[in-house]
Amino acid sequence: MIQEICQKHTDLSSKEIDILNTVSKNLQLVADLYYSDILLYCRIRGGSGLVVVDEIRPRTAESVYSCSQVGRTVEMDPEGAIPQAFLQGKRIRSRSESLPDGYVADIEATPIKREHEVIAVYARMGKVVHPQRPGRKPLTYSDIAEKLSQMIYQGKLHEIDISSFRTHGDGLIEVDQTGRITFVSPNAVSTYRKLGLQDNLLGMKIDELGLDESVIMEALRGMLPREKEVSERGAVVQKKAIPLFQDDKVIGALAIVRDITDLRQKDRVIKIKEITLQEIHHRIKNNLQAVSSLLRMQARRARNEEAKEVLSKAINRISIIATVHDLLAKGKGEYVDFSHILKQVLEMMKASLGDENKEVSFELRGRGFSIPADDMISLTLVITELVQNATEHAFIGRQEGKVLIDFHDDSQMAWVEVRDDGVGLPPGFGLHSGESLGFQIVRTLVEEELGGYIRIRSDRRGTSVKIYLPTFNESHREKKDKEEKKEINEKAQSSSSGR
Ligand SMILES: Nc1ncnc2c1ncn2[C@@H]1O[C@H](COP(=O)(O)OP(=O)(O)OP(=O)(O)O)[C@@H](O)[C@H]1O
Ligand SMILES: [Mg+2]
Repeated sequence: MIQEICQKHTDLSSKEIDILNTVSKNLQLVADLYYSDILLYCRIRGGSGLVVVDEIRPRTAESVYSCSQVGRTVEMDPEGAIPQAFLQGKRIRSRSESLPDGYVADIEATPIKREHEVIAVYARMGKVVHPQRPGRKPLTYSDIAEKLSQMIYQGKLHEIDISSFRTHGDGLIEVDQTGRITFVSPNAVSTYRKLGLQDNLLGMKIDELGLDESVIMEALRGMLPREKEVSERGAVVQKKAIPLFQDDKVIGALAIVRDITDLRQKDRVIKIKEITLQEIHHRIKNNLQAVSSLLRMQARRARNEEAKEVLSKAINRISIIATVHDLLAKGKGEYVDFSHILKQVLEMMKASLGDENKEVSFELRGRGFSIPADDMISLTLVITELVQNATEHAFIGRQEGKVLIDFHDDSQMAWVEVRDDGVGLPPGFGLHSGESLGFQIVRTLVEEELGGYIRIRSDRRGTSVKIYLPTFNESHREKKDKEEKKEINEKAQSSSSGR
């Protein structure tokens, strides 16, 4: 937004606009600490006035503005604090300027310079202090805000990003140049309690706490902010610190401490679940391979051809399930990429499919979508049965053929189609008739396992089997689950009230 408005109204270079972008992000902390709005002004091209290029609303207090100020222009009135800060290149405090919406407030205008030239001025409303938070905290917060404002004025925060520093949610700590703690926010106190420090931290030396405070020590040596996750005494705390400068001297450091113990605990539980799931898939695959070998041994001993063929088909089907489990064992999470798995299963199938003298080409179309691992096994079996059918039955008396596998999930409904350009289904074919197992497997899995339905089209130009399924889109499913639960509750309520 700053970039757009600066390019439209000002003469600022792209480097200068970059600086304003960083400073504006950093001003969020200043606005929060001051409990007040900050507006960022730049000179309009040609010098006729100033334009507001950004507004930073405090997250700790209500904004004094009811509507956006960006794009508002002001005259270059030499009496005003903001034009004066521009012209003199100094921080200017004024008494009672009139603001839009009928507010009257003190304004503090701070120039932002690049190589001694003022490129912008930011103004904060001085007297707007959060009415519900009087006392020590806002005062100390505004002390810290004042130090940060000085640093912005001296160009020390033009390239450092401190936008991840927050006053709410995180704990804030300030230390002086000797490492003595001069401020601890209530959140910081509770984080340090979790780390086993019950004492009043104020006045203590940071390097005497017995904890890993290396980021703060580095900041005191003037080093750039660095984030560090520290695990201590059963808690995990994220720490980040910046040096506080006055002129070129480090006068202390400001740090945030964030208690992320619960977050990391949840991450660990998820990781363990993931590994367990992978291990289960791996073992199932091994067991299925053992079953396949047993059946292969039996097939070798079978006396008649029909028994050999039946066993060989069973081995193929088991191998497909084993392959999917193997791929799931290598993947992550509960959801898997459908096209990725399908591609690999098809590659594996191609080797064993159909007649070597026939030229059958396969095409996988459709945008990838992720589906739950359990559904993946059923769906892969369905598709492999259909692909198997196409290669076995569609190209009778032909030298070549095409099989297309297309799929789609538009978050309302998903479908998968297997289409061939073969001879078409035999006359009188019915999905429910016949003794053969292939279509029975397809029907059972689609209707009973996947909750979908099948549509078949067939003529002399080929066969298309399309499977319609409930969407795999996670958020859509969750929404539907909620709706269903609500409906059940409503029904339950109305039947109990009718009794
Ligand atoms: N794509 C197709 N093109 C032409 N005919 C087909 C096609 N798919 C199936 N058929 C016909 O439908 C019949 C039933 O198929 P189904 O998959 O149920 O059994 P199968 O393939 O004969 O045996 P199985 O799948 O149990 O090994 C097939 O025998 C074949 O005649
Ligand atoms: Mg079949």
